[in-house]
Amino acid sequence: MIDPATVERIKNTADIYEVVSDYVQLIRRGANYVGLCPFHNERTPSFSVNRQKNFCYCFSCKKGGSPVNFIMEKEGLSYPEALRHLARRYGIEVVETRLTDEQRAQRDNREAMYLANEWAMQKMEEDLTATDEGRDIGLQYFTQRGVTDEARKAFRLGYALDKSDALTEAAVRKGFDIALFKKLGLVGTSQHGRDYDRFRGRVIFPIHNRIGKVVAFGGRDLKGGMAKYINSPESDIYRKSHELYGIYQARAAIESENRCFLVEGYMDVIGMWQSGMKNVVASSGTALTEGQIELIKRITPNITLIYDGDQAGIKASLRGMDMLLAAGMNVKLLLLPDGDDPDSFARKHTPEEFREYVAAHETDIISFKARVMLGEGQADPQKRIETINSVAYSIAHIPDDVSRDVYVQVCSKILDIPEQTIANAVARARIEVEKKKEPNNGDRFRH
Ligand code: UTP
Ligand code: MN
Repeated sequence: MIDPATVERIKNTADIYEVVSDYVQLIRRGANYVGLCPFHNERTPSFSVNRQKNFCYCFSCKKGGSPVNFIMEKEGLSYPEALRHLARRYGIEVVETRLTDEQRAQRDNREAMYLANEWAMQKMEEDLTATDEGRDIGLQYFTQRGVTDEARKAFRLGYALDKSDALTEAAVRKGFDIALFKKLGLVGTSQHGRDYDRFRGRVIFPIHNRIGKVVAFGGRDLKGGMAKYINSPESDIYRKSHELYGIYQARAAIESENRCFLVEGYMDVIGMWQSGMKNVVASSGTALTEGQIELIKRITPNITLIYDGDQAGIKASLRGMDMLLAAGMNVKLLLLPDGDDPDSFARKHTPEEFREYVAAHETDIISFKARVMLGEGQADPQKRIETINSVAYSIAHIPDDVSRDVYVQVCSKILDIPEQTIANAVARARIEVEKKKEPNNGDRFRH
């Protein structure tokens, strides 16, 4: 680990103008410098460098940050790697701290947990195709739901044998410490103190983190039992609010498409992936968190939420939008026909039809909100006021001034009221939105 004092030295020494200049030709404009953005193709400069704040930002693709953020993004490095890179650039000697025994134990414990999960994933993946039970029940289920071999392998789908100690016993034979499996939620303990395989008799969806380590599992019931899905509990390697199902498999496609589709469930990810839309992740049935948004934002600022077109779907899509807007994301919404989820829709249509549907039905979420609320009661003045204020409140979350102005314009047309009226409402709402933020929001770019 890099000594904190060294980290401070690197951060205080690295100059954003110098660091960016290694990659971009910068020219002076007012108090700042501008140049062609190194993160996307452009002909007119959107990339701005503020030397006083030691900060860079692309107004078009929204990438940027401190010198360390810039190097992470540009060189594809992790946080400590970027620090070392800058230390070399500035001839700073890197002092390493020795880990305390406790820190080392923690690291070793996490490593052991990853290993155990990896082993369990492989075993359940093998059991799906290499045992009669796996084939007759698990594989049969996936086949009947239209999962291709290619998708099954990419997502490492598996089957947990329907025996209370199949996994436990194999793990013990392999020399694993069962305490580890309990922490990971693979093994549970009954009221009578007996250990049992928690996922037994279920098909298995391993959850990988951004870099491909297995951090958790989802298991789907096949017998119409109590819980349709059970999931791994939070652990030292799994913070649910910071992971998204499919992120590892989707990463490259999100980057090349410069867009991320967000769906609700495991099978929705697989259905879209099979339809050729591989830039897709799932929040696994819960509301999106800031940690999850950050995960996407590191790859693209463009997100399309996909929901069922029923009332519940519309409500859910509007619920999460302000947080996404506040993070500076460009948010679109795609509603599927009432009663369909992406998985069922993918199975009823060819990939071409699905793509055409997306292109034809993707809408900007702020305009969508304005139209939905308008439809709810145009004649009632009270309702109209509420609509204007609520739309303004959403617009107020957008950090970029230019984007805010554009939306004021767009919504003035939809709601048929003067721009100035909405602009005033946005200005008032911004005071409230600013107050809501934590006091320490200077560093928007998390490592
Ligand atoms: P859904 O109930 O919409 O299920 O939950 P689904 O994804 O369409 O599943 P299939 O098609 O019936 O197999 C959406 C997501 O919410 C989480 C899962 O991640 C699921 O994919 N969920 C749902 C749970 O974690 N536990 C549950 O009991 C139900
Ligand atoms: Mn479904």
